[in-house]
Amino acid sequence: MYDVRDGCPSAQEYRRLRASVGWSQPPMPACRTALASTIAAVIGNYRTETVAMARLVGDATLYLLLVDVVVAPEHQGTGLGRRMVWRLHDWASQNGTRNTLLVAGDDLVPFYRNLGFHTEPNTRMMRG
Ligand SMILES: CC(C)(COP(=O)(O)OP(=O)(O)OC[C@H]1O[C@@H](n2cnc3c(N)ncnc32)[C@H](O)[C@@H]1OP(=O)(O)O)[C@@H](O)C(=O)NCCC(=O)NCCS
Repeated sequence: MYDVRDGCPSAQEYRRLRASVGWSQPPMPACRTALASTIAAVIGNYRTETVAMARLVGDATLYLLLVDVVVAPEHQGTGLGRRMVWRLHDWASQNGTRNTLLVAGDDLVPFYRNLGFHTEPNTRMMRG
Protein backbone atom coordinates (compact mmCIF):
# COMPACT_ATOMS: atom_id res chain seq x y z
CA MET A 1 0.00 0.00 0.00
CA TYR A 2 2.89 2.33 0.83
CA ASP A 3 5.61 2.76 -1.75
CA VAL A 4 8.91 4.65 -1.66
CA ARG A 5 10.56 5.57 -4.94
CA ASP A 6 13.18 7.90 -6.34
CA GLY A 7 11.89 11.29 -7.39
CA CYS A 8 11.24 14.85 -6.37
CA PRO A 9 7.85 16.12 -5.31
CA SER A 10 6.30 18.79 -7.47
CA ALA A 11 6.45 22.32 -6.10
CA GLN A 12 2.78 22.04 -5.13
CA GLU A 13 3.32 18.72 -3.37
CA TYR A 14 6.39 20.15 -1.66
CA ARG A 15 4.44 23.08 -0.25
CA ARG A 16 1.51 20.88 0.76
CA LEU A 17 3.73 18.40 2.60
CA ARG A 18 5.61 21.15 4.39
CA ALA A 19 2.33 22.76 5.44
CA SER A 20 1.03 19.41 6.71
CA VAL A 21 3.71 19.35 9.42
CA GLY A 22 3.46 23.05 10.22
CA TRP A 23 6.51 24.23 8.30
CA SER A 24 6.61 27.45 6.29
CA GLN A 25 5.63 27.43 2.63
CA PRO A 26 8.27 29.28 0.60
CA PRO A 27 7.00 31.07 -2.53
CA MET A 28 6.48 28.86 -5.58
CA PRO A 29 9.46 30.24 -7.55
CA ALA A 30 11.76 29.57 -4.59
CA CYS A 31 10.36 26.05 -4.28
CA ARG A 32 10.93 25.35 -7.98
CA THR A 33 14.51 26.64 -7.80
CA ALA A 34 15.24 24.64 -4.65
CA LEU A 35 13.76 21.41 -6.02
CA ALA A 36 15.63 21.78 -9.32
CA SER A 37 18.90 21.90 -7.37
CA THR A 38 18.18 18.65 -5.52
CA ILE A 39 20.93 16.05 -5.72
CA ALA A 40 18.71 13.07 -4.93
CA ALA A 41 15.20 12.76 -3.61
CA VAL A 42 12.59 10.19 -2.73
CA ILE A 43 8.86 10.36 -2.35
CA GLY A 44 6.48 8.16 -0.43
CA ASN A 45 3.15 7.26 -1.93
CA TYR A 46 -0.07 5.99 -0.42
CA ARG A 47 -1.89 4.50 -3.39
CA THR A 48 -1.52 7.31 -5.94
CA GLU A 49 -1.08 10.15 -3.46
CA THR A 50 2.31 11.65 -2.54
CA VAL A 51 2.33 11.62 1.26
CA ALA A 52 6.04 11.86 2.08
CA MET A 53 9.31 13.25 0.79
CA ALA A 54 13.00 13.58 1.61
CA ARG A 55 15.84 15.27 -0.26
CA LEU A 56 19.62 15.41 -0.39
CA VAL A 57 21.28 18.70 -1.29
CA GLY A 58 24.97 19.44 -1.57
CA ASP A 59 27.93 18.74 -3.85
CA ALA A 60 26.91 15.16 -4.73
CA THR A 61 30.00 13.47 -3.40
CA LEU A 62 31.89 14.99 -0.48
CA TYR A 63 29.09 16.59 1.48
CA LEU A 64 25.38 16.01 1.47
CA LEU A 65 22.71 17.56 3.63
CA LEU A 66 19.54 15.61 4.31
CA VAL A 67 16.57 18.00 4.27
CA ASP A 68 12.79 18.08 4.01
CA VAL A 69 12.20 14.70 5.62
CA VAL A 70 8.44 14.86 5.92
CA VAL A 71 5.69 12.30 6.31
CA ALA A 72 2.14 13.70 6.32
CA PRO A 73 0.75 13.29 9.86
CA GLU A 74 -1.97 10.79 8.95
CA HIS A 75 0.70 8.51 7.43
CA GLN A 76 3.35 8.79 10.13
CA GLY A 77 4.36 5.67 12.00
CA THR A 78 4.01 3.46 8.92
CA GLY A 79 7.75 3.15 8.22
CA LEU A 80 7.87 5.71 5.43
CA GLY A 81 10.35 7.98 7.23
CA ARG A 82 12.75 5.12 7.88
CA ARG A 83 12.45 3.75 4.33
CA MET A 84 13.10 7.17 2.77
CA VAL A 85 16.18 7.88 4.91
CA TRP A 86 17.58 4.40 4.22
CA ARG A 87 17.07 4.82 0.50
CA LEU A 88 18.85 8.16 0.42
CA HIS A 89 21.61 6.77 2.61
CA ASP A 90 22.05 3.93 0.09
CA TRP A 91 22.27 6.49 -2.70
CA ALA A 92 24.93 8.43 -0.78
CA SER A 93 26.94 5.27 -0.08
CA GLN A 94 26.85 4.21 -3.70
CA ASN A 95 28.06 7.66 -4.73
CA GLY A 96 30.98 7.64 -2.34
CA THR A 97 29.69 10.40 -0.08
CA ARG A 98 31.95 11.00 2.88
CA ASN A 99 29.48 12.82 5.11
CA THR A 100 25.73 13.01 5.18
CA LEU A 101 24.70 15.77 7.56
CA LEU A 102 21.34 16.79 8.93
CA VAL A 103 19.85 19.20 11.42
CA ALA A 104 17.22 17.83 13.76
CA GLY A 105 15.41 18.89 16.89
CA ASP A 106 16.33 17.09 20.12
CA ASP A 107 13.09 15.11 19.95
CA LEU A 108 14.19 13.53 16.67
CA VAL A 109 17.63 12.42 17.80
CA PRO A 110 16.36 8.91 18.69
CA PHE A 111 14.72 8.57 15.26
CA TYR A 112 17.97 9.37 13.44
CA ARG A 113 20.14 7.41 15.89
CA ASN A 114 18.08 4.33 15.07
CA LEU A 115 18.96 4.93 11.44
CA GLY A 116 22.72 5.04 12.09
CA PHE A 117 23.33 8.77 12.52
CA HIS A 118 25.31 10.09 15.46
CA THR A 119 25.42 13.51 17.08
CA GLU A 120 28.50 15.69 16.69
CA PRO A 121 29.80 17.96 19.45
CA ASN A 122 30.36 20.87 17.07
CA THR A 123 28.28 24.00 17.41
CA ARG A 124 25.84 24.73 14.62
CA MET A 125 26.17 28.30 13.40
CA MET A 126 24.04 30.26 10.98
CA ARG A 127 23.47 33.79 9.83
CA GLY A 128 20.26 35.27 8.48
C1 LIG B 1 10.14 12.35 11.75
C2 LIG B 1 9.31 11.66 10.70
C3 LIG B 1 9.92 11.91 9.32
C4 LIG B 1 9.31 10.15 10.99
O1 LIG B 1 8.65 9.49 9.93
P1 LIG B 1 7.69 8.24 10.23
O2 LIG B 1 7.29 7.65 8.93
O3 LIG B 1 6.58 8.66 11.13
O4 LIG B 1 8.64 7.27 11.02
P2 LIG B 1 8.73 5.67 10.85
O5 LIG B 1 7.35 5.11 10.86
O6 LIG B 1 9.57 5.34 9.69
O7 LIG B 1 9.46 5.26 12.20
C5 LIG B 1 10.66 4.53 12.21
C6 LIG B 1 11.07 4.31 13.64
O8 LIG B 1 11.37 5.58 14.26
C7 LIG B 1 10.53 5.77 15.39
N1 LIG B 1 10.17 7.19 15.43
C8 LIG B 1 9.36 7.84 14.58
N2 LIG B 1 9.26 9.14 14.92
C9 LIG B 1 10.04 9.29 16.04
C10 LIG B 1 10.34 10.38 16.87
N3 LIG B 1 9.82 11.61 16.64
N4 LIG B 1 11.15 10.19 17.91
C11 LIG B 1 11.67 8.96 18.16
N5 LIG B 1 11.40 7.87 17.40
C12 LIG B 1 10.60 8.04 16.36
C13 LIG B 1 9.34 4.86 15.16
O9 LIG B 1 8.72 4.52 16.38
C14 LIG B 1 9.98 3.68 14.50
O10 LIG B 1 10.60 2.88 15.47
P3 LIG B 1 10.66 1.26 15.37
O11 LIG B 1 11.64 0.96 14.28
O12 LIG B 1 11.14 0.83 16.71
O13 LIG B 1 9.28 0.82 15.04
C15 LIG B 1 7.83 12.13 10.71
O14 LIG B 1 7.32 11.96 12.01
C16 LIG B 1 7.64 13.59 10.31
O15 LIG B 1 7.45 13.89 9.13
N6 LIG B 1 7.68 14.52 11.29
C17 LIG B 1 7.43 15.94 11.04
C18 LIG B 1 8.50 16.60 10.19
C19 LIG B 1 9.87 16.47 10.82
O16 LIG B 1 10.09 16.85 11.97
N7 LIG B 1 10.81 15.93 10.02
C20 LIG B 1 12.18 15.74 10.44
C21 LIG B 1 13.01 16.94 10.18
S1 LIG B 1 14.71 16.72 10.74
